[in-house]
Amino acid sequence: MSTNGPLNDIRLSASASYRRDHGAAGKDVTDKLTQNRILTTNDIDALTVLEFAAQDILQQYHAAMRQMEVRLETLDQDLKLRKSRNPIHHIESRMKSVPSIFEKLGRYGKEPTLESMERYIMDIAGLRVIVSYVEDAYAILHHLEQQDDLEVVTVKDYIKSPKPNGYRSLHFIVKIPVFFLDGKRSVPVEIQIRTIAMDFWASLEHDLKYKAVHETEGVDVSEELKACSHIISGVEKRMQILANALESSAHP
Ligand code: GTP
Ligand code: MG
Repeated sequence: MSTNGPLNDIRLSASASYRRDHGAAGKDVTDKLTQNRILTTNDIDALTVLEFAAQDILQQYHAAMRQMEVRLETLDQDLKLRKSRNPIHHIESRMKSVPSIFEKLGRYGKEPTLESMERYIMDIAGLRVIVSYVEDAYAILHHLEQQDDLEVVTVKDYIKSPKPNGYRSLHFIVKIPVFFLDGKRSVPVEIQIRTIAMDFWASLEHDLKYKAVHETEGVDVSEELKACSHIISGVEKRMQILANALESSAHP
């Protein structure tokens, strides 16, 4: 079989990373990339190396994600003491799968290597923070920006500027220092903060997109979603005013 192509790139990269005890790709992606190819013994050795390397690097992102989740829970508890209510409704976490990491690299036109993965894929670890009110989303971002060991980068404010389809959320990347046996690394975690209402909208939009539903009962689904997003935004503004009145009556 040919030694050119993505499998070889990943194998070379994984071997280099393995030697310095750092790096990754995984079985799933190599399965995908080697579909319909005949594997040699060398390839199978390379796949074993890849699988080992994947565990190593993904573990770093997983550690960063857990530590960011604790930071957010700590903020939530502290804000609860001061404001007598929990701003965070709940937090969801997820690790991006190795095949979707490499799919994204392909979409970005980047080399399918471990170095590219670490350099360009900022959402290997992801947290979604669901809050009650819009102001809570900005308050959490603000408090994270105050933490001097964190670096908040690439804020995408889809609340202030919703996507054309009506999608709203506050996205940003936080680099958090994580200590390992051989030292400290700053590891990026993608955070999406959205209200319960924004999450309600995004879940439905995601499912409709996934099932490719474009029209129902004579209604254009994408126009209807845009209209719903606009209404939700208006309702949230009005409810924020009511919530603020409640807060000022609790803390005059
Ligand atoms: P991608 O992950 O490739 O989309 O990278 P990106 O850098 O363009 O990030 P972006 O900020 O656009 O969105 C990243 C994530 O936000 C997605 O993986 C989804 O979880 C969520 N998201 C973004 N846009 C939409 C949308 O239109 N609908 C829904 N339901 N979710 C969205
Ligand atoms: Mg996108």
